[in-house]
Amino acid sequence: MQFTYVNPTQIYFGQQQIAAITQAIPRQHKVLIIYGGGSIKHNGVYQQVVDALQEHTWLEFSGVEPNPTKETLDKAVAIVKQQEIDFILAVGGGSVIDGSKYVAAAAKHSGDGWDIMLGKHRVTDATPIGAILTLPATGSESNSGAVITKAATQDKLSFLSPYVQPKFAVMDPDVMKTLPERQLVNGLVDAWVHICEQYLTYPTQAMVQDGYAEALLKNLLVLGKDFAQRDNDAWRANLMWTANQALNGLIGSGVPQDWATHMIGHELTALWQVDHARSLAIVQPALLRNQLAAKKAKLEQMGQRVFNLAPSEDLALRTIDAIEAFYHQLNVDTQFSAPDMTAEQAVDKVIEQLEVHGMVALGEHQAITLEQSRDILTQAFI
Ligand code: NZQ
Ligand code: ZN
Repeated sequence: MQFTYVNPTQIYFGQQQIAAITQAIPRQHKVLIIYGGGSIKHNGVYQQVVDALQEHTWLEFSGVEPNPTKETLDKAVAIVKQQEIDFILAVGGGSVIDGSKYVAAAAKHSGDGWDIMLGKHRVTDATPIGAILTLPATGSESNSGAVITKAATQDKLSFLSPYVQPKFAVMDPDVMKTLPERQLVNGLVDAWVHICEQYLTYPTQAMVQDGYAEALLKNLLVLGKDFAQRDNDAWRANLMWTANQALNGLIGSGVPQDWATHMIGHELTALWQVDHARSLAIVQPALLRNQLAAKKAKLEQMGQRVFNLAPSEDLALRTIDAIEAFYHQLNVDTQFSAPDMTAEQAVDKVIEQLEVHGMVALGEHQAITLEQSRDILTQAFI
């Protein structure tokens, strides 16, 4: 086990915490508030932000779409450059926060922001960001990753940089009250898969990472079972904190990580606008069955410790079935039919995109080649 770990994002957790931004953003900073399609105008979040920034100078940029596009975000980049913005306040879900990270990094680059996504420009500076989270799912509020789409070419790519990690994240569970059921379910599933990507690999005797990952998985199982109780302060707070801890760097420190489900899932979102979490539920069960031998020991551990399954020869497979049943219980599909084409044509399309994006050796052993991905997609597409 060898790693360095820091999570420098200051967390303001709890009801009424939006007011904390008055102090968290230096008074002399010129702020750009970035948000999405307007949900924050209907749940009082926008008003709370305006109230908190009474003494600040600020501008706003709205219209960041789910699965944010470079095409939209480049307009915000131009504003940050022209208006000499010194602080970006992202108010929204993963899409708004990721989009703000791209804007923050691209604003310090003289060329096309997409260079960052292609690895042609290494980020060495960014406008500082703060986040007000409105949808617990991605962990983007306190991590250094972002996933951006170029609509013109249907490329959905990610970048990581410590420079874009938010300085602070406000997590007030009350803001979740207006979330549609679909988005709450997405949050549960996305957080679940984030934990799996860092846990379901092979045993390394990392007791802290395994034990904490298992605790978080058990939380999500309980929250899923208690989904009917979701209009409840404790339910909301527990989902918000669990989803944050699932991808804040801690459980992934010093252990092997997979991320193949995410890389393949991103292609489904880019091609057919499948919600991010739902793309994962489609890919993951088939991927786990494909990788059964390599992941057997960890699947068995998860089966016993998370699902309380009794040991047996086929425990690893039963664990995958239990994961799939968890998605089905939440009414999340684990199979996919692409519109207007056969399953075979759809598989070909994804394979083509994976190849273009260099996703030809995925997973903790780089063992998921295009051939394996083809097998996985063939199982998942109908
Ligand atoms: O745009 P608005 O009007 O705000 O509506 C949003 C959007 O339509 C709505 N919403 C958010 N908070 C709400 C609300 N509606 C009512 N009340 C509220 N309180 O929800 C819709 C979806 O929002 P979005 O931000 O797209 O969802 P999510 O948080 O699931 O983010 C998904 C994006 O994050 C990326 C995904 O690829 C995808 O692009 N990811 C980012 C990661 C990271 N940075 O670490 C990791 C993840 O694996 C993921 O890939
Ligand atoms: Zn995810």
